[in-house]
Amino acid sequence: MDTTNLPMQAPGRKLNNSLKNSVNDDIASDDDNHYLQPAQFAKEYVDKLSKAMTDNPSMCSQELKEIHENAFEEISNDLTARKENFENPNEFEEFYIEFERQINEVYKGLRERVQKSAVNQIIKYIEDETIRDFDNLYTPEDLQKKWCQLTSSARENLQQETTEFQAYMYKKLASSFSSIKEKFRQHQRDICDRKKNLIEVAMSKYKHDKNWLMMDKVIRSDSELRALHDDKVYEAEVNLRSDSDQQTKNHGLLDDFRSEVSNEFDNILTSYQRRRPLSIKRFQDVVSNEYDNEMSEVVEQVANVEDLRKMHARYLREAVKKFQKFFSGPSDPLCISHIGILKNIIQATFDENVSPEFENLLGEQDDNFKHGEKEYCKEMNLRLDTNCFLGDNVLRGEHNVVRSHILLERKIFSPEKVREFDCRLEILYSTFVQRNDMNYPTVEGIGIDLGTTYSCVAIYEAGCVKTVANGDGLPTTPSYVRFNEHGHTLGFGDSVKEGSYSHSESVAYDAKRMIGREFSDPELQKNISNWPFAVVNDGGEPKIKIFCPENSKTKYTLVSAPHVASELLKGLRSEAEKRLNLVGQIKSVVITVPAYFTEKQITATKLAGEAAGLRVLEIISEPVAAVIAYNKLNVNLDCKYVLTFDLGGGTFDVAVVKMAKGKSNIISQDGHRNLGGEDFDQNMMQFILAQIKLKHGTVIISDKGQLQRLKLACEKAKKVLSSAMQTAVKLDCFKLQDGKGQTLHVDLDVSITRDQFEDMNKSLFQLAIQKTHACLEAARVDKGQIKEVVMVGGSTRIPKVQAMLKKFFGNRTIIQMSIDPDQIVAHGAAMRVAMLTGSIRRGSPDYQHVTTVTQMSYGVEVWGGDYSVVIPKNTPIPNVTRAQFRTANDQQTSVLVSIFQGEAAKAVENHKLGDFYLNGIPPAEANLETIEVMMEIDTNRVLHVSAACVSNGVAESRMIEVVEMRI
Ligand SMILES: Nc1ncnc2c1ncn2[C@@H]1O[C@H](COP(=O)(O)OP(=O)(O)OP(=O)(O)O)[C@@H](O)[C@H]1O
Ligand SMILES: [Mg+2]
Repeated sequence: MDTTNLPMQAPGRKLNNSLKNSVNDDIASDDDNHYLQPAQFAKEYVDKLSKAMTDNPSMCSQELKEIHENAFEEISNDLTARKENFENPNEFEEFYIEFERQINEVYKGLRERVQKSAVNQIIKYIEDETIRDFDNLYTPEDLQKKWCQLTSSARENLQQETTEFQAYMYKKLASSFSSIKEKFRQHQRDICDRKKNLIEVAMSKYKHDKNWLMMDKVIRSDSELRALHDDKVYEAEVNLRSDSDQQTKNHGLLDDFRSEVSNEFDNILTSYQRRRPLSIKRFQDVVSNEYDNEMSEVVEQVANVEDLRKMHARYLREAVKKFQKFFSGPSDPLCISHIGILKNIIQATFDENVSPEFENLLGEQDDNFKHGEKEYCKEMNLRLDTNCFLGDNVLRGEHNVVRSHILLERKIFSPEKVREFDCRLEILYSTFVQRNDMNYPTVEGIGIDLGTTYSCVAIYEAGCVKTVANGDGLPTTPSYVRFNEHGHTLGFGDSVKEGSYSHSESVAYDAKRMIGREFSDPELQKNISNWPFAVVNDGGEPKIKIFCPENSKTKYTLVSAPHVASELLKGLRSEAEKRLNLVGQIKSVVITVPAYFTEKQITATKLAGEAAGLRVLEIISEPVAAVIAYNKLNVNLDCKYVLTFDLGGGTFDVAVVKMAKGKSNIISQDGHRNLGGEDFDQNMMQFILAQIKLKHGTVIISDKGQLQRLKLACEKAKKVLSSAMQTAVKLDCFKLQDGKGQTLHVDLDVSITRDQFEDMNKSLFQLAIQKTHACLEAARVDKGQIKEVVMVGGSTRIPKVQAMLKKFFGNRTIIQMSIDPDQIVAHGAAMRVAMLTGSIRRGSPDYQHVTTVTQMSYGVEVWGGDYSVVIPKNTPIPNVTRAQFRTANDQQTSVLVSIFQGEAAKAVENHKLGDFYLNGIPPAEANLETIEVMMEIDTNRVLHVSAACVSNGVAESRMIEVVEMRI
């Protein structure tokens, strides 16, 4: 920058200094000769002007002129006044001229400096104004215009100035303008750079953020692409606006960006348009390949051309749907036109490939069926050759096994073909039924109600069902077994129960409350504290510790619940054989279990039967047995709803049944595995113990035998209270310890009223009513629709239970007590034996067809250990249910299908039935692959579980494993 242009340079002082110096030089030379010199007057003039300029440094030329004229006039007057001092007028004249010349010279110099200073200030002002307006100037022309505007008045004023000064001024202006031009150019360059950077950032974001194209997943039309592009541009512009400054905006930032982004979009669109037909073709291939795959399976499965066409129409529809999904808008003309093409391709595939292939297969299928029939006859003959007689159900079971084997071997899977093949096999089956009839059996099996506290045996003979009395002639036998120290049975039933208090540590009972349960089962743990015998954990299985104190105080053996049950079954069978005079001839049995038994409990019971040397024809639920027996006595039944209410010694079962002649449908079941007479006995024991404490203070009954004695006495008192309002628990010489450990023998005589008994069991009775209510709700049957309540189990004799049921159902429902509640279940089991062994022929009046429902839910473990129900509780059997699940992890290629039974929210809290792996899932992101789990409970109550991967067209679905479970 030019320093002379600095406004604060104080040009006046500088000028004054130089002026002073030159004048002083003159004065110095004049001082030497002491003459009156013009310079003396000029000095005065200079002093005056110096002072004036020091006082006003930014003085303009007009002001200077005025001061000059005043000073000149004053000094000139002074000089004129001294005119006489000159020798002659000429001398004065010369002096004056010289004085005037010097003054004018000084003035001229000063004026020139003042003017230059003014020029510099004007130029500075013009430059500042121009720079300030740079943001509004876009071109050099704009700059030129602005410059001319600002300098025009200065130029006008110049015309009055001297040519010399004008030249000076023009030169100054020209140099200033060229420097301003350079500054303007630099300013323009800065804005451009900033603008370029902003556009570059926005463009690179636009270019990299091309998700909206999604070429691999969705096909878009031009107009849609443009709309998406517009959205992106809008977004970018919003960002640009907020990121940019006013200068870049003024300099066309947005317009430039728009034009650049629009060019970019044109390129994108061109490339998209080039690739779009390829993508459409690829999606078309995917969908039509899927159609091919589906149809190649269909061809194997359908039975006739009509069905084939139906399936073709269905998969064509599905293909169209799938294809539409590849387009962002199904009504988009692009999509519509390509769907037309796809339809043509698929139709051509059907006409040219699928249909001819099906024609070929039809011919092959007939051969397949013929071979299958041959194989069936061979297998069935083999079975009838090796067995004398097979009961209806057994024969049907064998038929089913052979049939399933052939279906699998011959790869007959489609429902239509299976149906066709079944019709052909059914005709053959009837010939085997006739052949089998020729080997009609003479020895029957027995039905056993294996109860928690009492068991009952029944037989069906000559069209009648009857209870087989035990050795003492009683219809029911206490489920008590006595063992020696080696685990061998010493006896069972009444005598063992009666004497159980004197050898309480070698007697086992309540095995039904233990069978098939884990040691850790909370319900079992609750019972353990009530039993006189010890129960230990043997590798997770609960086992009873049997001591035989007569032989050894320390020696003991462990017996399992299935062992107790099997010894009991053996005893029951042998007594029945003796009574029926069929020693060694009873081989088969149907055993009943509560509907609420788990798969494990059912299996354990079945194993117990087999361990007893019996052929367990079937395990049936107690409600089913009760329904069968009830139905026999009600041959003139109209269709009606009945509720079975089974309150026994250890368990409670309730079922809603729709009954018609010879046909009963159980529509819902509920119950409790730990609710029965045993619990009422326990409550009474607690009551009696409390009474003893009241009378004798703190006492301890450490002798297990004494406790058992008390328990038996309580059970008796309970029974008495069913007919009397009051009774007493009387025990002579009852042994107990006082607080100091002294043994006392007291004659116990505690009276108890029916009210007290009912009060102590109130919550248990209410629980049974609640379960009844829930069962009705599950069946969606109003209690008013229940015609009869069939009372099953010894505890239904309790008057309060009957009263509560009467109150609950109202007067219009009959509380049916006419069939002995202790024996009805065994009767049903005996009838079932007769049906299975053929004694009751299908179609005969006693033949009962019972359909039932699942007593618990079936499901699988899912992510996080949760349990997902597939077949809910109370689902009619047979049943097939499918449920879909998603993969939980990225790149997951296999899944463990763990099958459970129960109602708890967490899988582990239910009963595990088995598991298997499904491998070969195509790796993909979590949640993308679908696994379909199919659960089927067939007519034989076998649970089949399969899992298949339903892939998005890349992989095929397939059935990979089957788990079979008896329910
Ligand atoms: N008159 C009665 N009053 C009250 N309770 C009785 C009467 N008669 C029998 N009981 C009780 O009924 C229960 C026996 O009934 P039941 O034989 O039906 O049961 P269970 O078959 O052993 O048990 P579950 O079916 O639960 O396994 C015993 O607790 C017994 O004390
Ligand atoms: Mg029972």
